[in-house]
Amino acid sequence: MNILVTGGTGYIGRILVPELIGRGHNVTVIDRGFLDYDDPTKDYEGAHLIRDDIRTCDPSRLRGFDGVIDLAALSNDPSGDLDKTATWDINYIGRVRIARLAKKLGAKRYVVASSCSVYGFRDGLSDESTPTNPLTTYAEANVAVERDNLSLNDSSFRATALRFATVFGYSKRFRLDLVVNAMTFYGYKNRVVRMMRDGNQYRPFIHVKDVSRALIQAIESNDDIGGRPINVGNERLNMQIKDIATIIMHKLGKDTKLELYGDPDNRSYQVKFDAARDLLKFETKFDLEYGVDEIIDKCKEGLDDLPQMHTVNYYKTLLNAEDSIAKYLNLKPKIIF
Ligand SMILES: NC(=O)c1ccc[n+]([C@@H]2O[C@H](COP(=O)([O-])OP(=O)(O)OC[C@H]3O[C@@H](n4cnc5c(N)ncnc54)[C@H](O)[C@@H]3O)[C@@H](O)[C@H]2O)c1
Repeated sequence: MNILVTGGTGYIGRILVPELIGRGHNVTVIDRGFLDYDDPTKDYEGAHLIRDDIRTCDPSRLRGFDGVIDLAALSNDPSGDLDKTATWDINYIGRVRIARLAKKLGAKRYVVASSCSVYGFRDGLSDESTPTNPLTTYAEANVAVERDNLSLNDSSFRATALRFATVFGYSKRFRLDLVVNAMTFYGYKNRVVRMMRDGNQYRPFIHVKDVSRALIQAIESNDDIGGRPINVGNERLNMQIKDIATIIMHKLGKDTKLELYGDPDNRSYQVKFDAARDLLKFETKFDLEYGVDEIIDKCKEGLDDLPQMHTVNYYKTLLNAEDSIAKYLNLKPKIIF
């Protein structure tokens, strides 16, 4: 298939794009951020990389694709709250623009990466029939983009939204704002695992390789998986933060200490993943221990604390550079549908 991946040089994209290429797809990536810090080209051999912005790129960029995997976003809650207008522009208007153009220009399949954070914090297990309860701009934009882009679903254009659990695991664009990654990385570096009080809070998790597998399964699927959101994760990985800390400390060894920070945070949520099994025929393969081992191995190989691993700072840089990026790309600052 000819596949466009927006935001394809980010944390998930760095696992997904090489996998898609390996499966014989012709891949094009549109991302405005790459080359600021690292060069993915050698892992993306055969792919077409375009430095551009989903909000303003020329519509012709969207021509000629069978499928679109839409990953571009300000990708976490604090980044989303940095600049609410930019978050709505990118995560909502930008992604609606991409889906509408893709449909208009002949794509048959569209998959957007949404998030289980649309459920907010609540008791019990949330499934896709649970009313959404977005608590941040990031989550609100996900709810809005699901509503608009899933409504494009019809017999000629299959639109799917995958609501991912919080991701962990190693990728060449490693993210230190993700809880498992940060606890493991800094636990290794400082021999101290820092845990937000008091660790009783539940969150759903998924390994980044499983995210990539789910996106591939969704774009390649011939089944009727359009028009609705699908939670992607595994009930076994609905975990309490204190259990994660225990696993990490066990892996790191006896000299590792636990340090609590913050006010007690008892906001929890847990998610059901039956639809991923039934509709997408998707099961996760990787558990938390695998992800922790892998990050520790990378630390032993010399994984260092780099600026691009700090998602919020990285997006601050991008947002501050907005004008110069616009000039560099010769963009007109307006949204073209
Ligand atoms: N990592 C997680 O825990 C998680 C969980 C659920 C959903 N998601 C979603 O998956 C997607 C990818 O997440 P990620 O972890 O790879 O994030 P990431 O921040 O590493 O990657 C996002 C990419 O989008 C690009 N981008 C941002 N704004 C853009 C714009 N206007 N035009 C073009 N490119 C732009 C960035 O440069 C970056 O490379 C995001 O939509 C995110 O919200 C991630």
